[in-house]
Amino acid sequence: MTTQRTVLITGGNRGIGRAIAEEFLAAGHRVAVTSRSGDGGPEGALTVAADVNDAGSIDAAFKTVEEKYGPVEVVVANAGITKDGLLLRMSEDDFTSVVDTNLTGAFRIIKRASKGMLRAKFGRVVLISSVVGLFGSPGQINYAASKAGLVGIARSLTRELGSRGITANVVAPGFIETEMTAVLPEETQQEYLSQIPAGRFGQVDEIAKTVRWLASEDAGYISGAVIPVDGGLGMGH
Ligand SMILES: NC(=O)c1ccc[n+]([C@@H]2O[C@H](COP(=O)([O-])OP(=O)(O)OC[C@H]3O[C@@H](n4cnc5c(N)ncnc54)[C@H](OP(=O)(O)O)[C@@H]3O)[C@@H](O)[C@H]2O)c1
Repeated sequence: MTTQRTVLITGGNRGIGRAIAEEFLAAGHRVAVTSRSGDGGPEGALTVAADVNDAGSIDAAFKTVEEKYGPVEVVVANAGITKDGLLLRMSEDDFTSVVDTNLTGAFRIIKRASKGMLRAKFGRVVLISSVVGLFGSPGQINYAASKAGLVGIARSLTRELGSRGITANVVAPGFIETEMTAVLPEETQQEYLSQIPAGRFGQVDEIAKTVRWLASEDAGYISGAVIPVDGGLGMGH
């Protein structure tokens, strides 16, 4: 029988994060999600307000979750943004704000989560990166840097806390149909499609199932891995 865990997912009000929350709920886990507004998570999940740029709001969100469900055992750092632009036109703020949300935001989340995990001598950390982190993408120097950095976090965390029953892995989605990709010009979408060996875009539940599996007992000996879910787009990392 699967052990029921307390799971926290950042940015669980829409897109990939929401699908991950639904997947854990369907498997019977205690699920909390963060959203910036404090509502909008799926039915059955506890939705708490947190901005990953603000450590104080993260601490408050964890306290609320811990009071209701006990220590967070599985944390999924999913919240992320893009601010695309070619290098010569990218402002320093476009770079630092994306890194602050996608990379430093994940750092803030795992730092807070690690306290309870160390006490419990159990933890599953899943960081949602992107194929772009290792594949590269013109116009996404900020985003690619932030997503590649997550690999360094997972691998260092594995070396630091791997002996305490804690695993840390990266899931690298390819092109997944969400609001984030819907805004891309049709031409860009078709260009991506032509490069995907699977010949189609990915669906949010394909990411969600991988994340749930990484958090399961079956994946207890997997740590510091980068799992691509991209239809073959990024092969050769
Ligand atoms: N879609 C893809 O093809 C794809 C591919 C590779 C990787 N990814 C990654 O997968 C993750 C989810 O992407 P998605 O496609 O589901 O994106 P999405 O639909 O745009 O959702 C992004 C989520 O992140 C939250 N968020 C953004 N900034 C935040 C902040 N400062 N604090 C807290 N939450 C914040 C958003 O909350 P609000 O509702 O409050 O804005 C929202 O819940 C991201 O990390 C993204 O980089 C996506």
